[in-house]
Formats: sequence, C-alpha cells, structure tokens
Amino acid sequence: MHFSYLKVDELRCIGRLRADLNPGVNLVVGKNGSGKTTFLDALNLTASGRTVNPLNARDVIRDGSQAARVAVSVDYGGNRTIDVLMVKSKSGTKITIDNKQVKSTSELAQQIPLICVNSEVSSILTSAPSARRALLDRVMFHVKRDYVASWIEYRRALNQRNGVLKGTRDRSQATFWTKRLVGAGSVIDACRKEIISKINESLVDSLIQQEFSGISLEYYPGWSGGSLLDELDRDWGKDLELGYTRAGVHRADARLKVDNKEFTRRLSRGQLKVVAAEIMLGLRRFILEKTRLQPVIMVDDIHSELDSSMRGLLVDKILGLEGQKFFTAIDDVLHPEIFDRADMVFHVEREKFYA
Ligand SMILES: Nc1ncnc2c1ncn2[C@@H]1O[C@H](COP(=O)(O)OP(=O)(O)O)[C@@H](O)[C@H]1O
Ligand SMILES: [Mg+2]
Repeated sequence: MHFSYLKVDELRCIGRLRADLNPGVNLVVGKNGSGKTTFLDALNLTASGRTVNPLNARDVIRDGSQAARVAVSVDYGGNRTIDVLMVKSKSGTKITIDNKQVKSTSELAQQIPLICVNSEVSSILTSAPSARRALLDRVMFHVKRDYVASWIEYRRALNQRNGVLKGTRDRSQATFWTKRLVGAGSVIDACRKEIISKINESLVDSLIQQEFSGISLEYYPGWSGGSLLDELDRDWGKDLELGYTRAGVHRADARLKVDNKEFTRRLSRGQLKVVAAEIMLGLRRFILEKTRLQPVIMVDDIHSELDSSMRGLLVDKILGLEGQKFFTAIDDVLHPEIFDRADMVFHVEREKFYA
C-alpha cells in the first residue's frame, strides 16, 4: 500500500498543501520549523489519529483557524483505493474512510500500517518502561483486532481487583477478577513475546553488531515468569498491604542487552538512533508478516545524531526494503546518500511547498 495523494489545510504551520506522493522514496527538505515534521504528522494523523510525537498532539489546529483538515488517498494496487479524511476541530476529531465515519482508530491503523523512526523512538529506549510498553501495544493495534478488547478487559479486571484490595479486601471476590486479568493478560503477553522475537531477528544483523555483538531486546513480562495466577495468589498478602496489584502485564518491560548485560546507557546518541531504527524495522517486518501490507516507513530528521558513514549504512538498509518511504532532512545539509536516490523531493518553506 502507499499514500498517493495528500491534501492539508490549516495544520500547524501548514496553511494549504496539495501533493501527489511517490510510491517509492519521498524526501521532504526544509529549514528548522519549516513544516517537515508537520508533513509527516499529516500522514500519521490519517493513519492512526496520532501525531508522530505525542507532545505535538496539542495545537495541531493552525493558530487563528477553526479546524485542521487532512485528506489522503491510499492505493492498495489493483485499482483498490480508499480516501481518508481527518478533521480536527475544537469539538473533537472526526475521521472518515470513503465518507463513512471510523469508529475507532485501531480500525484505521489496521488499514494504513506505518512506522516512524525519529528521536522519540531513541528516547523510548532510555525512558520509563511505560513508553516501551506503549510502543509494543501500538504495533499490535495495527495487526490484531481483538488486542484492543484484551486491553479493555485487562484494565477493567485490574481496576476491579485493585478496588477490592482497597475496599472489601474479600479474597473470593478478588479471585473472580484475578482470573479475568490473567486470561486477558496472557493474550497480551503472547503478542508481546512474538513482537520481541521479531525485533531480535532484526537486531541480529544490526549495524552496531561489530561493536556490540549479541545486542538484543530482553523481555520482562511484568511478573517473575512462571504462572501469573500462582504469583498473584501467592502475593495476595503483599498486594493487600500495597493496596494495588503488583504483578501483571501492566508492569512489563523490554530492555536492550548485550551479552545479558543492561546496555542502554552505554550507547551513544547515534548508536541509540541506529538501534531504535532497527527496532522499528523489526516492527515493520512483524506488521508485514501479520497483515501482508507493506508498512509505510518514515524517517524524521535523518541527519541528526548520525555521522555520514552510519547515515549512509542506515539509509542503504532502509532503501533495501520494499514499501513507500518518507525522509525529512534540513536543506542546508543535503545528503547525497538520500538526495540522489529520492524519487520525489518536496521543499518546504513556511507557507510554501513545491515539488
Ligand atoms: N498551531 C500552530 N499554528 C501555527 N504554527 C504552528 C502551530 N504549531 C506549531 N507551529 C509552528 O510550526 C513549526 C513547526 O513545524 P515542524 O513541522 O515541526 O517543523 P520542522 O520539522 O520542519 O522543523 C514551528 O515553527 C511552530 O512554531
Ligand atoms: Mg521536525
């Protein structure tokens, strides 16, 4: 699948944009603050209802405007296309596919899979476990319809169980919720394990394997690893003292390890960016195998934090993959490794776009 057309009105710094997009490599160049990330966000908003960086989720409506609108055409080959329209106004967000209202953004995510490599992904590796859980969960929304349902069930069971711990403290009442929590949790756990193993396949030939051989992502399920039901049963007294449920998939994590040693903090910013990109490529592979759709690959600020040789290797790696690609770069550092190989180049200046 690929985006074939993009139309943007009143999205952050972009007033009006109409562009045919190339099914191959698209490069968006412009100075700082010119609208490169906003260009990617426009596509991302129609694919998931989200912005690339959650910090940009506010203020998407251009100052002085009532609503931001993004429309895209998505081409699946064989004459099958869909038109997606996203309108964000002060009263909320409305998304339609072929003029029919979309009920949940996961419905959208399943039709338009995309991955984005940016500095946020690098910081996910060094920040709190919740950020890494969120990354894994987002991927599942692209591929598994009932994943959302499992999460809703899990959250509900967890809240109810915590309510019992703080309230009646009645063990048999808690057991009802514990069983439901374990049931939904096992679906989530199995999915996450599958994703992590796909990521590790991608890290086997990491560009930094030479320096850090045996780099991998280690999964921590959120409890000691045996039966969650037994552990919750055993820890009933501790949970009563704490007033909440300690063990479960809500405590999971995935950490970078080299030869079984914690490694995230030993990597430079550039090395982190490479690993982050490779993790995203593992996720891409996972989505592709599950959905049979080629995810769109976005790389925001390819120039930042990477020296020219590493940048070249990473670009080669990404360009060797199928699927539509979008790169952004600052135009006064036009890198031949990507500039010479782009099928379409968009120059963005505040208020202006030209291809
Ligand atoms: N709601 C808004 N209305 C108008 N301009 C905005 C709004 N939100 C952000 N901007 C401007 O958009 C620019 C950021 O665009 P961005 O796409 O992040 O640029 P780039 O990625 O090229 O550096 C900034 O100059 C910022 O001031
Ligand atoms: Mg940017």
